Amino acid sequence: MSNPSILILPGDGIGPEVMAEVKKVISWYGAKRDVQFDVSEDLVGGSAYDAHGTPLHDDTMAKAQEVDAVLLGAVGGPKYDALDFSVKPERGLLRLRKEMDLYSNLRPAQCFDALADFSSLKKDVVAGLDIMIVRELTSGIYFGEPRGIIEEGNERVGINTQRYTESEIDRVARSAFELAMRRGKKLCSMEKANVMESGILWREVVTEVGKDYPEVELSHMYADAGAMQLCRWPKQFDVIVTDNLFGDLLSDAAAMLTGSLGMLPSASLGAPMANGRPKALYEPVHGSAPDIAGQGKANPIACILSFAMSLRYSFDMGAEADRLEAAVEKVLADGVRTADLLGEEGVTPVTTSEMGDAIVSALDASL
Ligand code: NAD
Ligand code: IPM
Ligand code: MN
Repeated sequence: MSNPSILILPGDGIGPEVMAEVKKVISWYGAKRDVQFDVSEDLVGGSAYDAHGTPLHDDTMAKAQEVDAVLLGAVGGPKYDALDFSVKPERGLLRLRKEMDLYSNLRPAQCFDALADFSSLKKDVVAGLDIMIVRELTSGIYFGEPRGIIEEGNERVGINTQRYTESEIDRVARSAFELAMRRGKKLCSMEKANVMESGILWREVVTEVGKDYPEVELSHMYADAGAMQLCRWPKQFDVIVTDNLFGDLLSDAAAMLTGSLGMLPSASLGAPMANGRPKALYEPVHGSAPDIAGQGKANPIACILSFAMSLRYSFDMGAEADRLEAAVEKVLADGVRTADLLGEEGVTPVTTSEMGDAIVSALDASL
């Protein structure tokens, strides 16, 4: 059998910096656990635009369709802000999600004990937090037609369309119920059925799918109230399922509960391929962080934990994923902190690379 294949797309800004630390972890698995991956690397986002005039070359798109998993760093940055919308770095990422049909975006928010004091919320509100946001990723207002900026009378109008088919809601709801079955058997669906027809349909379809999962306790919440409840008492949630735009906002909010955007990984999953594995792309929730790029300050943990998610969801290596997550936890418990995690007095931050090295040492210690 051939080795599992991974396509690495470091991207822009801190993307390549955090990905360099993931590569150390991949090498460690090869050297110390004899887990070999066929790793290839390519460009996405602004770096692809600089090389090819497009944020995602067709050849890269084709490679992404073939591999067992794609690992992406981050895309975007001020250098590309003035570009035409169609070639902006973010379009490369959106094309990958759409063409790979990665409809189920898993964004866990877990509070590591060592960081409970660091959250902007009180310690007892976040200590032990472990929730999973399932964000629909290939439809909704991100992709709905009509869209554009048109002339109307003597002014311009910006248009985007929220649109969901029953089957799009059904499949993401099923993936959320399946996850809930493997976790705490609680699912909260968030929309705005009070003001949006797409929300009414969303609630109906999720309720219908729920009949196939009688063991899962299903609740519904308006997304604005959900945002409030996430800050008030996040531990009431187990799995949350929501649409593309609400999921984008709610997962950034959830990220801050855990201390830093630099901590949150994600998995974007599609339908199973011929080998039974889901099409998959793994990436940190954070962006290219232009304000700290090139300074060795970025926290690589979100990207390393995204690789851990690939071990779990693409490579059936749950025990190795546990090992890597435990290594991260140990390093944090030992007080190792990148600059985004500083709060305690007298702690000197480590660099991106030193954080990666500390995690690799903790992996060594786990043997
Ligand atoms: P951002 O996530 O890049 O940064 C927000 C803040 O969090 C910044 O202060 C940044 O320094 C900090 N931060 C983020 N990741 C960090 C890390 N790993 N370690 C330490 N600090 C970290 O969001 P933004 O500033 O709104 O966006 C910047 C660019 O990134 C934009 O072009 C945006 O479109 C893009 N973006 C890309 C992705 C992606 O590739 N998936 C996601 C979000 C934003
Ligand atoms: C994210 C990002 C992306 C999104 C952008 C960069 C296209 O914010 O992954 O959360 O809006 O989905
Ligand atoms: Mn986002």
